[in-house]
Amino acid sequence: MTEPSAAPPTDAPPNSPGAHGLENLLSEERRFPPSSEFAAQANATADAYAWANADRPGFWADQARDLLTWSTPFTQTLDWSDAPFARWFADGRLNAAYNAVDRHVEEGRGDRVALHFEGEGGDTRTLTYADLLREVSRAANAMTALGVRTGDRVAIYLPLIPEAVVTMLACARIGAPHSVVFGGFSAEALSSRILDAEAKLVVTADGGFRRGKPSALKPAVDEALAKGAPSVAHVLVVRRTGQPVEWTQGRDVWWHDAVEAASPEHTPVDVDAEHPLFILYTSGTTGKPKGIFHTTGGYLTQAAYTHLNVFDLKPETDVYWCTADVGWITGHTYVVYGPLLNGATQVIYEGTPDTPHRGRWWEIVQKYGVTILYTAPTAIRTCMKWGAEIPGKFDLSSLRVLGSVGEPINPEAWMWYRRVIGGDRTPVVDTWWQTETGAIMISPLPGVTAAKPGSAQVPLPGIAADVVDDDAQPVPNGGGGYLVLTEPWPSMLRGIWGDPERYKDTYWSRFAGLYFAGDGAKKDDDGDIWLLGRVDDVMNVSGHRLSTTEIESALVSHPWVAEAAVVGATDETTGQAVVAFVILRSDVVEGNAADAATVQETLRTHVAKEIGPIAKPRQILVVAELPKTRSGKIMRRLLRDVAENRQVGDSTTLADSSVMDLIAQGLATPVAASED
Ligand code: WTA
Repeated sequence: MTEPSAAPPTDAPPNSPGAHGLENLLSEERRFPPSSEFAAQANATADAYAWANADRPGFWADQARDLLTWSTPFTQTLDWSDAPFARWFADGRLNAAYNAVDRHVEEGRGDRVALHFEGEGGDTRTLTYADLLREVSRAANAMTALGVRTGDRVAIYLPLIPEAVVTMLACARIGAPHSVVFGGFSAEALSSRILDAEAKLVVTADGGFRRGKPSALKPAVDEALAKGAPSVAHVLVVRRTGQPVEWTQGRDVWWHDAVEAASPEHTPVDVDAEHPLFILYTSGTTGKPKGIFHTTGGYLTQAAYTHLNVFDLKPETDVYWCTADVGWITGHTYVVYGPLLNGATQVIYEGTPDTPHRGRWWEIVQKYGVTILYTAPTAIRTCMKWGAEIPGKFDLSSLRVLGSVGEPINPEAWMWYRRVIGGDRTPVVDTWWQTETGAIMISPLPGVTAAKPGSAQVPLPGIAADVVDDDAQPVPNGGGGYLVLTEPWPSMLRGIWGDPERYKDTYWSRFAGLYFAGDGAKKDDDGDIWLLGRVDDVMNVSGHRLSTTEIESALVSHPWVAEAAVVGATDETTGQAVVAFVILRSDVVEGNAADAATVQETLRTHVAKEIGPIAKPRQILVVAELPKTRSGKIMRRLLRDVAENRQVGDSTTLADSSVMDLIAQGLATPVAASED
């Protein structure tokens, strides 16, 4: 069960990125009402709130009928009789890939560009909806020939190249739930995800391009499968970098052999609205990542609705770009499903923002005439650090809507985003949601909401959220507490793969009948919601979720480490950074087996190997003791004080009160922090 923090909810939660000025948020006075020109053409209108409030399920049923094409129309909207297990549109049938691709071609939109792909090295590919239909059909036929059947799981471990989108849609086309694993995760992490989902097929590439160099992926798949994966029959390999790869005869198949030779005709498989569409693993408060699973009809409804209304998408004229990788939920909902369901033209970019130069993103905006940009605060803060003169060199006048996701955006970054990138003209939408919610939940609506820098503000039409205190009572305006969702929503997770109890425990047991999001929040005097960061043992580093316990487990799996405690310390650019405190085993210390720098480097590399480079601690501090309560619980709050160079807070509940002195003394000679 998720354990809420010991701190009173009216304080900023312990993980809140206080250094970003959020502590002053309630004094934020700036307002950015929509211009009359924008409001006049906006997709969203203010009356949607009243419409949805009058009949919430009815509102979503209307969206499901308007935005999706059903092979069998549904007659039931929401079944909440087995709460917290929801069923939406349960007697309807449809196919996700048909909705994302085929119907656009059938309705005469086949020549519209679906994807402008920009490789890191500058290579490009353009796929129209008609091209996408052929590619997805071929991939579906190839996967079927490899034995994948409706209901089988397919693991996808690919760089952000068109094949990633094609593979996801091909899975959806045959009703085989996909489980995308971010290419930055290690073989170890990949292995546990393949095993948990019992994937039948793994789709990967020889590698991708990262910071101007090929970066291999296939070896991680080989390593993961070598640990044993009885469910996996085949590995389908895209040639992207041309690096040499090891080949397992009979198991490994080249994409260009299997897919390119396959027929471009394929009939999509109709599935029930509640058929699983995908599993996506995310960090929780315990060591084992959770396989969050989403189903088809409800997920697609909210993906399409939010994409159309929050970004004000005009499919004929907009060029949309979401910078997320498909390895994260943002890439699922706002690179693959939302935009394609709505027939959008979008850009996907394989590389990093600074390859080969720090203006690369803005060059891409200029080149394709991007009109809608969706990215994370950490990227915005990085660009701020690099300086406004870099985007200033490019023509960004095509932009008309800017979005932010993944972590709280501090008002300064919000203002910079609007002013420097948006030319002081574009609405900025700060969108709060989670892997579990499937789609955006809290966000201003451009053209409707007078935006406040730093606040996600209001639940979307059809969504019910609140901020409650420890006793599940809604806090008054001006108060703080825990964010909860009070009514079921179409794209809600349907559970944790293979673990219904954990689903109930994690999300539904903290407050009876309410979904506990794990975030701290405040309501301002207008009742607008401000997100303050996680209140559990989940960190948010560059908008990526990491679990403190997962990194602790990785550290103690190293033979040098006796005990470890990990905290998320405020970081100016990445929101939070991983700081680890470790107790080394006595033989390592006594034998002087390693100096501090070696310890630091060895353990950082070890964490990267166990989880992935994103989980590498920024800093590892070797200590003699860890602060624990009398019941043996590590007091991370005190360690966070140390990591953030603050006066150490109340330590009266420590079993041994001298521990913090010992730690502080040890830090008089700190181990040098190294940054990547
Ligand atoms: C955080 C990403 C503040 C939050 C879509 C949430 C945010 C977690 C925002 C989910 C936002 C996401 N303002 N915090 N606009 N968006 N978060 O599952 O802590 O990777 O619980 O989904 O990110 O992260 P996840």
